[in-house]
Order: sequence, then structure tokens, then C-alpha cells
Amino acid sequence: MIVRTVADLRRHVRGWRADGASIGVVPTMGALHDGHLSLARAARRDCDRVITTIFVNPKQFNNPADLLKYPRSEDADAALLATVPVDLIFAPATDEVYPEGFKTTVSVAGVSEPLEGRMRPGHFDGVATVVTKLFGMTMADRGYFGQKDWQQLQVVLRLVRDLNLPVEIIGCETIREADGLAMSSRNLRLTQAGRGKAAVLYRAITAAADDIRAGQSDRMAIREAAETIRAAGFDRVEYIELRDAQTLMPSDDPASPRRMLAAAWLDGVRLIDNIPV
Ligand code: PAF
Repeated sequence: MIVRTVADLRRHVRGWRADGASIGVVPTMGALHDGHLSLARAARRDCDRVITTIFVNPKQFNNPADLLKYPRSEDADAALLATVPVDLIFAPATDEVYPEGFKTTVSVAGVSEPLEGRMRPGHFDGVATVVTKLFGMTMADRGYFGQKDWQQLQVVLRLVRDLNLPVEIIGCETIREADGLAMSSRNLRLTQAGRGKAAVLYRAITAAADDIRAGQSDRMAIREAAETIRAAGFDRVEYIELRDAQTLMPSDDPASPRRMLAAAWLDGVRLIDNIPV
């Protein structure tokens, strides 16, 4: 069932809540792949009712060209979601989410600022704003997010804590292709040759993380990873950083949970990945 308006969505949700059902929401921008489906399956296991939202959120695109070329495939997405299955797809038009006069921005300081936040100014304000709205619209008990977008997951966790939103955030493991490449809608934009090289990003940061655990200096291991990625034919390494897993601030303390995060360009496509260290 595809629902387009908040009023309709609320009608369904109120009925479910009146029956005592728990509700899980999987926010997406469509162009679904196995990564998204794994979130929906996790929600299916945990919750009585599952909503997937499909909304290409203009506020999180700092580049208008990216927004225009973002893939839209609602029929195919609905067919995939039917295999899970989910109970409801909420796919509103832009003016249903941002009606005339909309003025509020949710901004999470600190964790939103480095890495993706620095490369894509305003991106996380757009994410935090729409996610807050989607939680309010769906009244979900649990929200499912992929660890592939690690920084986004930390922004959402901080947001929910800071605003006392009554939703539990579940961070689900990154789903990878057989060669290790993290699943992403962007992978489809790679050429065949690019696709052949793309998993080097994951392999290089995995090797760096292993070397760091074995005692190599963080800086040296990261430099070697960047060289491996460039040598494989990537256009550019934007960053490879070892950060505190929660705050995303620089961390040289091996005793606290750390995350290695990377962004690199291949075939004009920006790929990101991250792993625990
Ligand atoms: O990860 C995404 O697809 C988006 O950032 C999200 C969480 C659906 C918000 O638009």
C-alpha cells in the first residue's frame, strides 16, 4: 500500500497503535537495493508493523545537479518491498513534506560538522530536519539506519537523544557485494571498469585497520591505504580518517571505539565506506 499524505499515514498509524502494535520505520530515498531491504527485514523481525518511507529530500542535496540526477524507481522499489513484505510505503510529494511557509531547520552541532559535513555543507541539517519530520509523521517506535552512512547514524542518534524523541534507533550492518564493495545506489553509476576497481576502497581501509591493530602508526597506515586506492585508478581520495566512533572527532586513543571513514572518487562517482578499528 502506497500512501501519499500525512493525514492518510496518520490514519493507518493511529489504527495500528490503538491495536497495541509496535511500528518500525525505514527511511529511504528510494532506488532500493539489498542494503535497504536488509533494514526492512530487520524491522519486519522486530516490529508488528513496518513503514518504509521513500522521499528524495531536496534539503540534503547541496548540489542541485545531484538532486536532479538522483534515480527514481518507485514501481521497482514497491516490488522489492513486497518481498519483505512491509505494511505501508509512505511516498509523499515534496510539498507534502515542505508545504508553503516551512521555516524550521534541525541542526545537530558537533558530530555533523567534520568529514561529510565539511564536504557537503548543509547536508546533515537536511537529513536531521527530514528524519525528525518522518519520526513525527510515522510515530514509529523504532527507526532503522545503515552503518554504511556511519556519520549519518551518529547524527540521528545524537538528535534523538538531544530532543528526547520517543524512537529507538537501530544501526544495521553494511551489506556488501561479494567483492566487499558496500552496497549503494551510486554503484550503478560506475562503468564496468570502475566497478571492477571499486572494492579496493574497502580492501585498502581494511588493510589499514589491520595494520593499526598490529601496531603500525595511524598516519602511516592511512597513507598506504590512500596510495593503494590512487594506484588502483581512483580519481581522488577525499579523506581517510580515524575518528572516535561516536563523536567523529579525531582520536588517537586505541582504547576507545574508533572508526575509519573514507570517501573517494571513481569514474566521477563519490564512494564512501567505513569500518571499526
Ligand atoms: O540515508 C538516506 O537515504 C537519507 O539520508 C535518509 C535517512 C532517508 C534521509 O533522507
